[in-house]
Amino acid sequence: MDAGMMAVKCGIPAAFDLAGWSRHHLDRVERAMGQWVGDGAPAGLGEAMRYAVLDGGKRLRPLLVLAAYEAVHNGAGPTGSDTALRAGMDEATLRAACAVELIHAYSLVHDDMPCMDNDVLRRGKPTVHVQFGEAQALLAGDALQAFAFELLTPDDARIPPAVQATLCRQLARAAGSAGMAGGQAIDLASVGLALTQEQLRQMHRLKTGALLQASVMMGAACGGAGATAQKALEGYGAALGLAFQVVDDILDVVADSATLGKTAGKDAASDKPTYVSLLGLAPAQAHAQELLAQAHAALAASGLADTRALAALADMVVNRSY
Ligand code: IPE
Ligand code: IPE
Ligand code: MG
Ligand code: MG
Ligand code: MG
Repeated sequence: MDAGMMAVKCGIPAAFDLAGWSRHHLDRVERAMGQWVGDGAPAGLGEAMRYAVLDGGKRLRPLLVLAAYEAVHNGAGPTGSDTALRAGMDEATLRAACAVELIHAYSLVHDDMPCMDNDVLRRGKPTVHVQFGEAQALLAGDALQAFAFELLTPDDARIPPAVQATLCRQLARAAGSAGMAGGQAIDLASVGLALTQEQLRQMHRLKTGALLQASVMMGAACGGAGATAQKALEGYGAALGLAFQVVDDILDVVADSATLGKTAGKDAASDKPTYVSLLGLAPAQAHAQELLAQAHAALAASGLADTRALAALADMVVNRSY
C-alpha cells in the first residue's frame, strides 16, 4: 500500500486530500531514488542498496520535508521573482527528501541485523541481511548513509553552499550520536531495564524523533523559514517525532506482522522498554493523542498560512494502522 492509500485507510478528513497530495509529491522522490540509488555500485552492493530503499515504506520523512518546504515558501520564502533560486531550492528539497529516506533505510538495515534487533521481515520482505548476508547488509547501510550526504552536496550553482552546509549539518546531527545512533545505543543498553518515563522519552526522541524533526527542519531551511516559523516547526517536529515512536510501540502490541510488514510482538519478546510496557496500552494511546494536540498547537502558532499537509501528516502518524 502506498502513502496515499494509507492516508485513505487512516480516515484523514476529506477537507485535505492527503492521498492525492502525497502521490503528487512523492512521484519525483520515487523517480529520483530509482534513478540514483545504487547506480554503479560494484559486486552486488547496488542491488542490496536498492532492495533496502525502493518499493516500500510509508515515506513519511520525505513527505515531511516536502510539506514543511511547501508550508514555508508559500508564505515567507523565496518567491517567483527569483526563478533560479526557486528552482535551486526545489532541487535542494527533492535531494533532502531522498537523503533523509536513505538515512532512515540505512538505520532499518542495521536495526534488523542479528547484532541489534535480529529481525527477518521488513517492509513485507526478508530483511537485507537475510537476503544478501550480514556483510553486504552492513556495507549497504554504510553506502546509503554516505550517499545521503553526497546527494545534499551537488555541484549545482543554483543551491547556495550555505544551504548545502546547513542541510548536511541538520542531517548529520539527527543521524549521529546526538540523534539516531545515540538513541539506538541507549535502546541496546536498556534491554531488560525499567526506564523512567523521562529516560524512555529521551531514548525515543533520539532514536526516532531526531530524524523526523530534522526532516521538518530541512524542508523549512530550503523554504527559508523565519524565526517564528522555525521555532514552531521545531515544536511540531519534536511532538510528531516522539508520537511516531509511541505509536510504533503500540502497533508492535496491537497489530499483526502481515499488516506491519515486520514481526509483531518483538518488543515484549526482546524485553525492550516501550511506552506500552511502561504506561500500559490505553495510557500510551492517550499520550500519543496528547502529542498530536501539541503538534497541532505548534502549527497554529507558526504564523504560516497553509499547514494542512503538515497537520494531515501528524494525524496520519498517530492514527495509522501500520
Ligand atoms: C520504522 O519506521 C522504524 C522506526 C523508526 C520506528 P517507519 O514505520 O517509518 O518505517 P517505513 O519507512 O514505513 O518502513
Ligand atoms: C528503530 O526502532 C529505530 C531506528 C531504526 C533508528 P525499532 O527497533 O522499534 O523499529 P522497528 O520496530 O524495528 O521498525
Ligand atoms: Mg530497534
Ligand atoms: Mg527494530
Ligand atoms: Mg518498533
